[in-house]
Amino acid sequence: MISVKKLSHDFVVGKKNKETRVPVLKDIDLSIFEGEIVSIVGKSGSGKSTLLNLMSGFMKPTSGSIEIAGTDVTKLSEAQWADFRLEHIGFIFQSFQLIPSMTAYSNVELPLKIKGMPIEKRRKKVFEVLERVGLKGFEEFYPSELSGGQQQRVGIARALITKPSIIFADEPTGSLDNETEQEFLQFIQELNKNEGITFVIITHDKDVAKVAHRTIELVQGSMVERGELYEVQR
Ligand SMILES: Nc1ncnc2c1ncn2[C@@H]1O[C@H](COP(=O)(O)OP(=O)(O)OP(=O)(O)O)[C@@H](O)[C@H]1O
Ligand SMILES: [Mg+2]
Repeated sequence: MISVKKLSHDFVVGKKNKETRVPVLKDIDLSIFEGEIVSIVGKSGSGKSTLLNLMSGFMKPTSGSIEIAGTDVTKLSEAQWADFRLEHIGFIFQSFQLIPSMTAYSNVELPLKIKGMPIEKRRKKVFEVLERVGLKGFEEFYPSELSGGQQQRVGIARALITKPSIIFADEPTGSLDNETEQEFLQFIQELNKNEGITFVIITHDKDVAKVAHRTIELVQGSMVERGELYEVQR
């Protein structure tokens, strides 16, 4: 499903004549298979978010290739990436990244609007997916009127609405209390089991790493496969 080969990334920092290259990822080789839940762990600054940003097309790598669902995504233009994301990838973020001026309904609807889906069809799908994440009746609530867990579920609904085959998540449980986190993890496992969605989850959290089939550790930009370190709860 995802094949990363010899991926390296340097950030260039500093002013013009005084530029320095900071190597952040070094020669990453990583294959993620359809239907897997893979967690990525590692110290702060080890390059986890950078890896996810590269796999999501938000940055171009210094070198190496990334193939997702048979496409070499490092060759895509920004416009092609936008279409590719809508087709294949959903995102869940730590801070949810909801648009504060838009209701739960409108936040979830947005990807379909961008896709150009007709309004009636959108409506049906948005109601369906909000009900699925347990937010029936909350359609007209603004993010500020929802609890942290509810906001996270709006974020999940928005990730699911395009029916992605892969979901990337960066510290998705970072702002959830323990109970909400357990619900979230259960939901991820259900989606993985019932719909075969592949998950790549960056986390500091051992509970999250526990639901993963495989854990990858980044150590100063290099990859260490930790295998099934934790007992898989399937
Ligand atoms: N835009 C940027 N410009 C320059 N350096 C950057 C940039 N983004 C990240 N870095 C550097 O790259 C390194 C890896 O950052 P990254 O955000 O990938 O770490 P992380 O593993 O996600 O850490 P955390 O757990 O704290 O989120 C850090 O040393 C950071 O300073
Ligand atoms: Mg990060």
